[in-house]
Amino acid sequence: MAGRLLYCRPGFERECAQELEAAAASAGVSGFARAAADGGLAEFVLHDAGAQPALDAAAGWRALVFARQSLGLLARVRGLDPQDRLGPLLEALAARDERYAEVWVEHPDSDDGRALAGLCRSFAPVLRAALRRARRLADDAPRRLHVCFTGGSDALLAAEAPARAAPWPGGIPRLRFPRGAPSRSTLKLEEALLVLLDDAERARWLAPGMRAVDLGAAPGGWTWQMVRRSIRVVAVDNGPMDAALMDSGLVEHRREDGFRYRPAKPVDWLLCDMVEQPRRIAALMAQWFAEGRCRMALFNLKLPMKKRYDEVRLCLGLLREAGIGDLRVKHLYHDREEITVFARRG
Ligand SMILES: C[S@@+](CC[C@H](N)C(=O)[O-])C[C@H]1O[C@@H](n2cnc3c(N)ncnc32)[C@H](O)[C@@H]1O
Repeated sequence: MAGRLLYCRPGFERECAQELEAAAASAGVSGFARAAADGGLAEFVLHDAGAQPALDAAAGWRALVFARQSLGLLARVRGLDPQDRLGPLLEALAARDERYAEVWVEHPDSDDGRALAGLCRSFAPVLRAALRRARRLADDAPRRLHVCFTGGSDALLAAEAPARAAPWPGGIPRLRFPRGAPSRSTLKLEEALLVLLDDAERARWLAPGMRAVDLGAAPGGWTWQMVRRSIRVVAVDNGPMDAALMDSGLVEHRREDGFRYRPAKPVDWLLCDMVEQPRRIAALMAQWFAEGRCRMALFNLKLPMKKRYDEVRLCLGLLREAGIGDLRVKHLYHDREEITVFARRG
Protein backbone atom coordinates (compact mmCIF):
# COMPACT_ATOMS: atom_id res chain seq x y z
CA MET A 1 0.00 0.00 0.00
CA ALA A 2 1.30 3.46 -0.84
CA GLY A 3 -0.17 6.92 -0.30
CA ARG A 4 -0.63 9.47 2.46
CA LEU A 5 -2.39 9.41 5.82
CA LEU A 6 -3.70 12.64 7.36
CA TYR A 7 -5.05 13.31 10.84
CA CYS A 8 -7.58 16.12 11.21
CA ARG A 9 -10.27 17.56 13.43
CA PRO A 10 -13.37 15.32 13.20
CA GLY A 11 -15.78 16.93 10.75
CA PHE A 12 -13.03 18.16 8.41
CA GLU A 13 -12.26 14.87 6.62
CA ARG A 14 -13.84 16.07 3.38
CA GLU A 15 -11.60 19.15 3.26
CA CYS A 16 -8.55 16.94 3.90
CA ALA A 17 -9.60 14.62 1.08
CA GLN A 18 -10.08 17.62 -1.22
CA GLU A 19 -6.61 18.91 -0.34
CA LEU A 20 -5.09 15.47 -0.96
CA GLU A 21 -6.78 15.26 -4.35
CA ALA A 22 -5.51 18.72 -5.27
CA ALA A 23 -1.97 17.86 -4.10
CA ALA A 24 -2.01 14.61 -6.09
CA ALA A 25 -3.27 16.45 -9.17
CA SER A 26 -0.55 19.10 -8.83
CA ALA A 27 2.07 16.33 -8.54
CA GLY A 28 0.56 14.56 -11.56
CA VAL A 29 -0.04 11.30 -9.69
CA SER A 30 -3.16 9.18 -9.75
CA GLY A 31 -5.04 7.43 -6.98
CA PHE A 32 -8.05 8.12 -4.81
CA ALA A 33 -8.84 9.85 -1.53
CA ARG A 34 -11.06 8.29 1.10
CA ALA A 35 -12.29 9.53 4.45
CA ALA A 36 -15.10 8.40 6.73
CA ALA A 37 -17.28 11.23 8.07
CA ASP A 38 -16.20 12.28 11.58
CA GLY A 39 -13.42 9.67 11.61
CA GLY A 40 -10.66 12.26 12.09
CA LEU A 41 -8.60 10.75 9.23
CA ALA A 42 -8.20 10.99 5.48
CA GLU A 43 -6.16 8.75 3.20
CA PHE A 44 -4.89 9.00 -0.31
CA VAL A 45 -4.18 5.63 -1.90
CA LEU A 46 -1.82 5.69 -4.88
CA HIS A 47 -2.42 3.54 -7.94
CA ASP A 48 1.32 3.30 -8.49
CA ALA A 49 3.69 2.98 -5.50
CA GLY A 50 6.42 4.54 -7.64
CA ALA A 51 4.59 7.86 -7.37
CA GLN A 52 5.13 7.99 -3.58
CA PRO A 53 8.02 10.52 -3.59
CA ALA A 54 6.06 12.93 -5.80
CA LEU A 55 2.99 12.69 -3.56
CA ASP A 56 5.12 13.04 -0.40
CA ALA A 57 6.67 16.21 -1.78
CA ALA A 58 3.28 17.73 -2.63
CA ALA A 59 1.33 16.68 0.48
CA GLY A 60 3.64 17.36 3.41
CA TRP A 61 2.22 18.60 6.72
CA ARG A 62 3.30 22.21 6.21
CA ALA A 63 1.73 22.45 2.75
CA LEU A 64 -1.73 21.33 3.88
CA VAL A 65 -4.27 23.52 5.64
CA PHE A 66 -6.62 21.00 7.21
CA ALA A 67 -4.10 18.30 8.19
CA ARG A 68 -2.91 18.14 11.79
CA GLN A 69 -0.46 15.49 10.64
CA SER A 70 0.61 14.14 7.25
CA LEU A 71 2.42 10.80 6.92
CA GLY A 72 3.54 8.38 4.23
CA LEU A 73 1.10 5.47 4.28
CA LEU A 74 2.70 2.01 4.55
CA ALA A 75 -0.01 -0.56 5.24
CA ARG A 76 -3.41 -1.28 6.72
CA VAL A 77 -3.65 -4.22 9.11
CA ARG A 78 -7.13 -5.57 9.84
CA GLY A 79 -8.55 -8.26 12.09
CA LEU A 80 -5.86 -8.04 14.77
CA ASP A 81 -6.30 -10.55 17.57
CA PRO A 82 -6.60 -8.59 20.86
CA GLN A 83 -4.45 -11.38 22.43
CA ASP A 84 -1.67 -10.85 19.87
CA ARG A 85 -1.67 -7.55 18.11
CA LEU A 86 2.10 -7.52 17.97
CA GLY A 87 2.71 -10.50 15.66
CA PRO A 88 0.75 -9.29 12.60
CA LEU A 89 2.06 -5.73 12.96
CA LEU A 90 5.67 -6.95 13.05
CA GLU A 91 4.90 -9.19 10.09
CA ALA A 92 3.52 -6.25 8.09
CA LEU A 93 6.68 -4.30 8.90
CA ALA A 94 8.96 -7.23 8.10
CA ALA A 95 7.77 -7.03 4.52
CA ARG A 96 9.53 -3.66 4.36
CA ASP A 97 13.25 -3.35 4.78
CA GLU A 98 13.21 -0.17 6.86
CA ARG A 99 14.42 0.89 10.28
CA TYR A 100 12.76 3.72 12.17
CA ALA A 101 14.11 6.43 14.44
CA GLU A 102 11.16 6.08 16.86
CA VAL A 103 7.64 4.72 17.04
CA TRP A 104 4.47 6.57 18.05
CA VAL A 105 1.26 4.69 18.74
CA GLU A 106 -1.72 6.95 18.03
CA HIS A 107 -5.45 7.09 17.47
CA PRO A 108 -7.75 9.47 15.60
CA ASP A 109 -9.23 12.40 17.56
CA SER A 110 -12.79 11.10 16.95
CA ASP A 111 -15.11 9.86 19.74
CA ASP A 112 -14.35 6.24 18.79
CA GLY A 113 -10.67 7.02 18.39
CA ARG A 114 -10.30 8.61 21.82
CA ALA A 115 -11.69 5.42 23.37
CA LEU A 116 -8.48 3.74 22.12
CA ALA A 117 -6.18 6.02 24.15
CA GLY A 118 -5.66 3.39 26.88
CA LEU A 119 -4.79 0.71 24.33
CA CYS A 120 -2.28 3.05 22.65
CA ARG A 121 -0.65 3.92 25.98
CA SER A 122 -0.22 0.30 27.05
CA PHE A 123 0.73 -1.03 23.61
CA ALA A 124 3.42 1.57 22.84
CA PRO A 125 6.14 0.22 25.21
CA VAL A 126 5.39 -3.36 24.14
CA LEU A 127 5.75 -2.47 20.47
CA ARG A 128 8.85 -0.35 21.08
CA ALA A 129 10.57 -3.22 22.92
CA ALA A 130 9.63 -5.69 20.18
CA LEU A 131 10.89 -3.36 17.44
CA ARG A 132 14.14 -2.94 19.31
CA ARG A 133 14.54 -6.73 19.61
CA ALA A 134 13.83 -7.07 15.89
CA ARG A 135 16.47 -4.38 15.19
CA ARG A 136 13.88 -2.18 13.60
CA LEU A 137 14.79 0.93 15.63
CA ALA A 138 17.93 2.95 14.93
CA ASP A 139 18.55 6.50 16.20
CA ASP A 140 19.96 7.60 12.86
CA ALA A 141 17.09 6.22 10.75
CA PRO A 142 15.44 8.96 8.67
CA ARG A 143 11.78 8.24 9.44
CA ARG A 144 9.57 7.82 12.50
CA LEU A 145 7.04 4.99 12.48
CA HIS A 146 3.40 5.83 13.29
CA VAL A 147 0.94 3.10 14.23
CA CYS A 148 -2.55 4.53 14.18
CA PHE A 149 -5.23 2.32 15.73
CA THR A 150 -8.59 2.89 14.05
CA GLY A 151 -10.25 0.20 16.19
CA GLY A 152 -9.21 -2.47 18.69
CA SER A 153 -8.43 -4.80 15.79
CA ASP A 154 -7.42 -2.40 13.00
CA ALA A 155 -4.40 -0.19 12.49
CA LEU A 156 -2.78 1.92 9.81
CA LEU A 157 1.00 1.95 9.54
CA ALA A 158 2.69 5.11 8.34
CA ALA A 159 6.08 6.81 8.48
CA GLU A 160 7.54 10.27 8.01
CA ALA A 161 10.78 12.15 8.59
CA PRO A 162 10.34 14.03 11.91
CA ALA A 163 11.48 17.32 10.35
CA ARG A 164 8.62 17.13 7.84
CA ALA A 165 5.93 16.09 10.33
CA ALA A 166 4.02 17.77 13.13
CA PRO A 167 6.18 17.22 16.22
CA TRP A 168 3.28 16.22 18.51
CA PRO A 169 1.60 12.80 18.86
CA GLY A 170 -1.74 12.92 17.05
CA GLY A 171 -0.60 16.23 15.58
CA ILE A 172 -1.98 17.90 18.72
CA PRO A 173 0.08 20.44 20.65
CA ARG A 174 -1.21 20.26 24.21
CA LEU A 175 -0.88 23.80 25.57
CA ARG A 176 -1.62 24.78 29.12
CA PHE A 177 -3.91 27.78 29.57
CA PRO A 178 -1.58 30.55 30.76
CA ARG A 179 -2.42 32.05 34.14
CA GLY A 180 -3.64 35.62 33.80
CA ALA A 181 -4.69 35.39 30.14
CA PRO A 182 -8.11 37.03 29.61
CA SER A 183 -9.67 34.43 27.27
CA ARG A 184 -9.23 30.90 25.95
CA SER A 185 -8.65 32.46 22.50
CA THR A 186 -5.13 33.17 23.74
CA LEU A 187 -4.28 29.51 23.06
CA LYS A 188 -5.12 29.98 19.37
CA LEU A 189 -2.52 32.67 18.97
CA GLU A 190 0.01 30.79 21.09
CA GLU A 191 -0.48 27.71 18.91
CA ALA A 192 -0.31 29.80 15.73
CA LEU A 193 3.06 31.25 16.77
CA LEU A 194 4.30 27.75 17.63
CA VAL A 195 3.07 26.05 14.45
CA LEU A 196 3.46 28.73 11.80
CA LEU A 197 6.83 30.22 12.87
CA ASP A 198 10.10 28.50 13.74
CA ASP A 199 12.34 29.31 16.72
CA ALA A 200 14.51 31.81 14.83
CA GLU A 201 11.48 33.60 13.36
CA ARG A 202 9.82 33.86 16.79
CA ALA A 203 12.98 35.40 18.21
CA ARG A 204 13.36 37.83 15.31
CA TRP A 205 9.76 38.79 14.67
CA LEU A 206 8.42 38.97 18.22
CA ALA A 207 10.94 41.36 19.72
CA PRO A 208 10.33 43.75 22.64
CA GLY A 209 9.38 47.24 21.50
CA MET A 210 7.61 46.12 18.33
CA ARG A 211 4.13 47.46 17.60
CA ALA A 212 0.90 45.62 16.81
CA VAL A 213 -2.72 46.34 16.01
CA ASP A 214 -5.30 43.79 17.18
CA LEU A 215 -8.67 44.06 15.38
CA GLY A 216 -11.53 42.49 17.35
CA ALA A 217 -9.30 42.34 20.42
CA ALA A 218 -11.72 42.08 23.36
CA PRO A 219 -11.34 40.77 26.00
CA GLY A 220 -7.66 40.51 25.05
CA GLY A 221 -6.38 36.93 24.74
CA TRP A 222 -4.42 37.70 21.57
CA THR A 223 -3.27 41.11 22.81
CA TRP A 224 -2.04 39.34 25.98
CA GLN A 225 0.30 37.13 23.90
CA MET A 226 1.90 40.25 22.42
CA VAL A 227 2.10 42.09 25.74
CA ARG A 228 3.83 39.12 27.42
CA ARG A 229 6.55 39.63 24.76
CA SER A 230 6.73 43.38 25.55
CA ILE A 231 5.08 44.36 22.26
CA ARG A 232 2.84 47.47 22.26
CA VAL A 233 -0.71 46.90 21.03
CA VAL A 234 -3.54 49.11 19.77
CA ALA A 235 -6.57 46.97 20.65
CA VAL A 236 -9.56 47.83 18.44
CA ASP A 237 -12.95 46.63 19.68
CA ASN A 238 -16.18 48.11 20.98
CA GLY A 239 -16.20 45.49 23.72
CA PRO A 240 -14.39 45.85 27.07
CA MET A 241 -10.74 44.85 27.45
CA ASP A 242 -9.45 42.93 30.46
CA ALA A 243 -8.55 45.42 33.21
CA ALA A 244 -5.30 43.72 34.31
CA LEU A 245 -4.09 43.69 30.70
CA MET A 246 -4.78 47.43 30.40
CA ASP A 247 -2.71 47.95 33.58
CA SER A 248 0.36 46.71 31.67
CA GLY A 249 0.59 50.18 30.13
CA LEU A 250 1.38 48.57 26.75
CA VAL A 251 -2.18 48.57 25.41
CA GLU A 252 -4.18 51.40 23.88
CA HIS A 253 -7.88 50.50 23.62
CA ARG A 254 -9.81 52.10 20.75
CA ARG A 255 -13.55 51.61 20.52
CA GLU A 256 -13.70 51.76 16.73
CA ASP A 257 -14.79 49.72 13.76
CA GLY A 258 -11.99 47.30 12.87
CA PHE A 259 -12.77 47.67 9.17
CA ARG A 260 -12.20 51.43 9.27
CA TYR A 261 -9.33 51.82 11.74
CA ARG A 262 -5.91 52.51 10.25
CA PRO A 263 -2.75 53.34 12.27
CA ALA A 264 -1.00 56.66 11.65
CA LYS A 265 2.32 54.84 11.13
CA PRO A 266 3.00 51.31 9.81
CA VAL A 267 3.16 48.57 12.46
CA ASP A 268 5.07 45.31 12.72
CA TRP A 269 2.02 43.12 13.31
CA LEU A 270 -1.63 43.12 12.32
CA LEU A 271 -3.76 40.66 14.30
CA CYS A 272 -7.41 40.03 13.51
CA ASP A 273 -9.94 37.73 15.17
CA MET A 274 -13.15 39.55 14.15
CA VAL A 275 -16.07 37.23 13.47
CA GLU A 276 -16.91 38.17 9.90
CA GLN A 277 -17.23 36.71 6.43
CA PRO A 278 -13.80 35.25 5.55
CA ARG A 279 -13.55 36.99 2.19
CA ARG A 280 -14.21 40.34 3.88
CA ILE A 281 -11.39 39.66 6.33
CA ALA A 282 -9.05 38.48 3.55
CA ALA A 283 -9.80 41.63 1.55
CA LEU A 284 -9.10 43.81 4.62
CA MET A 285 -5.79 42.06 5.27
CA ALA A 286 -4.83 42.40 1.59
CA GLN A 287 -5.62 46.13 1.79
CA TRP A 288 -3.35 46.65 4.83
CA PHE A 289 -0.47 44.99 2.97
CA ALA A 290 -1.18 46.88 -0.26
CA GLU A 291 -1.12 50.16 1.70
CA GLY A 292 2.12 49.12 3.47
CA ARG A 293 0.52 49.37 6.93
CA CYS A 294 1.97 46.16 8.41
CA ARG A 295 4.95 43.85 7.92
CA MET A 296 3.25 40.69 9.10
CA ALA A 297 -0.25 39.55 9.93
CA LEU A 298 -1.89 36.73 11.83
CA PHE A 299 -5.62 36.33 11.44
CA ASN A 300 -8.47 33.87 11.51
CA LEU A 301 -10.83 33.09 8.68
CA LYS A 302 -14.11 31.79 10.13
CA LEU A 303 -15.63 28.98 8.07
CA PRO A 304 -19.22 28.33 9.08
CA MET A 305 -20.26 27.61 5.47
CA LYS A 306 -20.64 24.23 3.71
CA LYS A 307 -18.04 24.80 0.98
CA ARG A 308 -15.17 25.51 3.32
CA TYR A 309 -12.44 24.32 0.96
CA ASP A 310 -13.67 26.55 -1.89
CA GLU A 311 -13.91 29.54 0.44
CA VAL A 312 -10.33 28.99 1.67
CA ARG A 313 -9.05 28.83 -1.91
CA LEU A 314 -10.88 32.02 -2.78
CA CYS A 315 -9.50 33.87 0.26
CA LEU A 316 -5.93 32.66 -0.30
CA GLY A 317 -6.27 33.72 -3.94
CA LEU A 318 -7.21 37.24 -2.80
CA LEU A 319 -4.15 37.39 -0.55
CA ARG A 320 -1.77 36.10 -3.23
CA GLU A 321 -3.13 38.61 -5.73
CA ALA A 322 -2.22 41.33 -3.22
CA GLY A 323 1.42 40.25 -3.56
CA ILE A 324 1.70 38.41 -0.23
CA GLY A 325 4.41 35.86 -1.01
CA ASP A 326 4.73 34.15 2.37
CA LEU A 327 1.40 32.58 3.36
CA ARG A 328 1.24 29.84 6.00
CA VAL A 329 -2.18 28.47 6.77
CA LYS A 330 -3.38 25.89 9.30
CA HIS A 331 -6.51 24.55 10.85
CA LEU A 332 -5.04 24.56 14.35
CA TYR A 333 -5.99 22.24 17.18
CA HIS A 334 -7.46 25.22 19.08
CA ASP A 335 -9.39 26.41 16.00
CA ARG A 336 -12.94 25.18 15.65
CA GLU A 337 -14.77 26.26 12.49
CA GLU A 338 -11.96 28.53 11.39
CA ILE A 339 -8.41 28.48 10.10
CA THR A 340 -5.42 30.63 11.01
CA VAL A 341 -3.23 32.48 8.51
CA PHE A 342 0.25 33.97 8.86
CA ALA A 343 1.04 36.45 6.09
CA ARG A 344 4.23 38.31 5.26
CA ARG A 345 5.05 40.19 2.13
CA GLY A 346 7.95 37.75 1.54
C1 LIG B 1 -13.70 36.07 18.92
S1 LIG B 1 -13.76 37.63 19.65
C2 LIG B 1 -12.08 38.05 19.83
C3 LIG B 1 -11.40 37.39 20.98
C4 LIG B 1 -10.00 37.94 21.17
N1 LIG B 1 -9.14 37.59 20.03
C5 LIG B 1 -9.34 37.39 22.41
O1 LIG B 1 -8.34 36.70 22.30
O2 LIG B 1 -9.83 37.67 23.51
C6 LIG B 1 -14.28 38.66 18.38
C7 LIG B 1 -14.31 40.13 18.72
O3 LIG B 1 -14.44 40.84 17.51
C8 LIG B 1 -15.14 42.03 17.80
N2 LIG B 1 -15.64 42.61 16.56
C9 LIG B 1 -16.49 42.07 15.66
N3 LIG B 1 -16.69 42.91 14.62
C10 LIG B 1 -15.91 43.99 14.87
C11 LIG B 1 -15.65 45.21 14.16
N4 LIG B 1 -16.25 45.47 12.98
N5 LIG B 1 -14.78 46.08 14.70
C12 LIG B 1 -14.16 45.84 15.87
N6 LIG B 1 -14.36 44.70 16.57
C13 LIG B 1 -15.23 43.80 16.08
C14 LIG B 1 -16.21 41.61 18.80
O4 LIG B 1 -16.64 42.71 19.57
C15 LIG B 1 -15.45 40.55 19.62
O5 LIG B 1 -14.94 41.12 20.80
